[in-house]
This record gives sequence, structure tokens and C-alpha cells, in this order.
Amino acid sequence: MLEALVKRSSPLPVESKLLIFGGGFTGQHIAGLARALGTKVICTRRTNKKAGSDCAFDSESKLLPPKDFFKDVTHILSCVPPNQTGEDPVLNSLGKELRNIPLKWVGYLSTTGVYGDRQGEWVHETDEPKPHQPRSQRRWACEQAWLNEDLPIQILRLPGIYGPGRSAIKNILSGKTKMIHKPGQVFSRIHVDDIAGAAIHLMHLAEKDIKPKIINLADNLPCTNIEVMQYAASLLRTSLPPIEPFKIASRNMSPMAISFWEENRRVSNKMLCHDLGYSLVHPDYKSGLRDCLSQEKKVN
Ligand SMILES: NC(=O)c1ccc[n+]([C@@H]2O[C@H](COP(=O)([O-])OP(=O)(O)OC[C@H]3O[C@@H](n4cnc5c(N)ncnc54)[C@H](OP(=O)(O)O)[C@@H]3O)[C@@H](O)[C@H]2O)c1
Repeated sequence: MLEALVKRSSPLPVESKLLIFGGGFTGQHIAGLARALGTKVICTRRTNKKAGSDCAFDSESKLLPPKDFFKDVTHILSCVPPNQTGEDPVLNSLGKELRNIPLKWVGYLSTTGVYGDRQGEWVHETDEPKPHQPRSQRRWACEQAWLNEDLPIQILRLPGIYGPGRSAIKNILSGKTKMIHKPGQVFSRIHVDDIAGAAIHLMHLAEKDIKPKIINLADNLPCTNIEVMQYAASLLRTSLPPIEPFKIASRNMSPMAISFWEENRRVSNKMLCHDLGYSLVHPDYKSGLRDCLSQEKKVN
């Protein structure tokens, strides 16, 4: 879908240089779009042996980029999750370097987990976070750390990220399908192309001094996982295992998996799509899964 994204996105100013901390799944997609638009991009991963790494950065082993790595950088995106004590690995290791660069835009990928459980209600950026899970409390602490810096920061709050190679299509093909039903439970999600498209859109708005501090990135259609699996199975023309009630399925789930089912919220994208004018490439999981299938067919 890169071609479609490139067509609908405008190039950043020529002098732009984007540094992505944590060029993993999402970081690589954003790097791919920015490069296709003609922007210079450099990425870190924890080891240079991983694809797409221009420089190794690992806060745990204190492996830091050299000073000249930051030369001419104008935009920064951090995709690095919090460490175990709730400190931000990038700010902790490299905050001083970042403060010395004249940056135009800094993005931090956070999670909508900071909102906590809302019993299926819609959550907006103006809602006070109520992080309940320890990992969400660590995330909230990192958001605060970024917001307390004197940097042109935008916090991008993400629900479940999916895309080619990480989707219901992939789960079915690898035989990892679970059909779990919990009454009233929905999940929000975002296709990785839309994280990339929205990030570039927000960088452009920042040039015009439009830069709200916190933005939800989610599609239009929070829904059950069962609906997503059923649609993926229909695309693959395959059958699915029987539906299991959550009460029974949870007996064999890890505490981590159970924690995902403890929170129920619908993430509003009104600010992104209405107030800030971003048009989703994949407004719902149906469009997103069709894309996953066509991209995965190309790979296999
Ligand atoms: N997956 C989801 O559904 C979801 C939902 C909401 C928010 N998020 C958050 O959004 C961000 C991007 O997600 P993703 O799925 O694209 O994650 P990902 O593929 O795991 O990418 C995370 C990146 O951070 C790097 N990293 C991790 N710990 C590090 C450390 N201590 N020092 C330096 N670099 C470190 C990783 O390095 P390597 O490349 O070497 O592994 C990787 O490049 C993450 O913060 C994630 O927690 C994810």
C-alpha cells in the first residue's frame, strides 16, 4: 500500500531529516513512507544486525549512537517502549543530545492503555488518563517525561497495531487462531499504514504551528476480535475453530493475555480525522485486512 500512501502524502521540506529511535515494525513502515517521499531517514535498532538499522542503540546495554549521528536531524520519532521501571529509554540515555538539536517535530508512540478501562465507552484526548495495568502506568510516566521536556513533542496514542505480517490473516495462516467471546468487549485498532500516513500529516501540520500535544490514532470501527477473525477467514476461504466463552478460555491464558481483556474502550479518532483533517487509508479492519492479504500474498 506504500504507493497509495505516497500518492496521498506530500513531501516534507527538503532540508528535513528524520531520526527514528526503534525501527521495529512501526518504525520501519514510517521510515519507508518518509524515504519514498524523498526525506532522509536514519533508524536505530538494538543491534546493527537487524534489518533497517543505521546505528545500534540499546539503553539497557548502554550502547549509544555517536554524536555525529544527530547531525542535521530536524524530526525525531521514538517507538521505544518504557523500561521496566517506567523510565523512558531514549530520554534517559540521550535527553541531553536531543535538547541541543533545533528540532521541528518530535513524536512519541504511546498506547491507549493509559486511558484504562472505560467499560466500552469512547475515549478522547481530553479524558484524564486512568492507567490501571502496571505497563500502562509506566507508559503514562514516559508520556509525562516527554511532555515535561522543552521539545516540540506530540504524543501519539495507539490501540492495537496491525498490518502485513502482523494480523488476523497471519494468525489464521500460522494456526494461532482463538475465537474468544466476552460479552460487550470490543477492541480498537490501527493499520500501520495509517500510523505512517498520520505521522507525516502531523509533521506537515507542525510546520503550520498546528501541534496538539496528544492525539489518538485509531480507525473508525472498534469491534470484537471475533468479527475481525470471521472476516479474515472469509477472505482466506477457511473455517475457524468454535467460539469459546472468555470465562473458560481465560483458564489457560497468561496473566498478560488476560490483562488485555480486562479493559474495554472505544478510541475516538475525531481529533485526528475531523479536527486535523487526516483521511484514513484503512477506515476499518475490512479494508485493512484486504490490504494485509494482498501484501502477504506478494511475500509468499
Ligand atoms: N504492538 C501494538 O499493538 C502496540 C499498541 C500500542 C502501542 N504500541 C507501542 O508502539 C511502539 C511501536 O510498536 P511496534 O509494535 O512497532 O514495536 P516494535 O516492533 O517492538 O518496536 C520497538 C522498537 O524499540 C526498540 N527498543 C526496545 N527496547 C529498547 C531499548 N531498551 N533501547 C533501545 N531500543 C529499544 C526495538 O529494538 P529492536 O528493533 O532491536 O527490537 C524496536 O526497534 C512501541 O513503543 C509499542 O510499545 C504497540
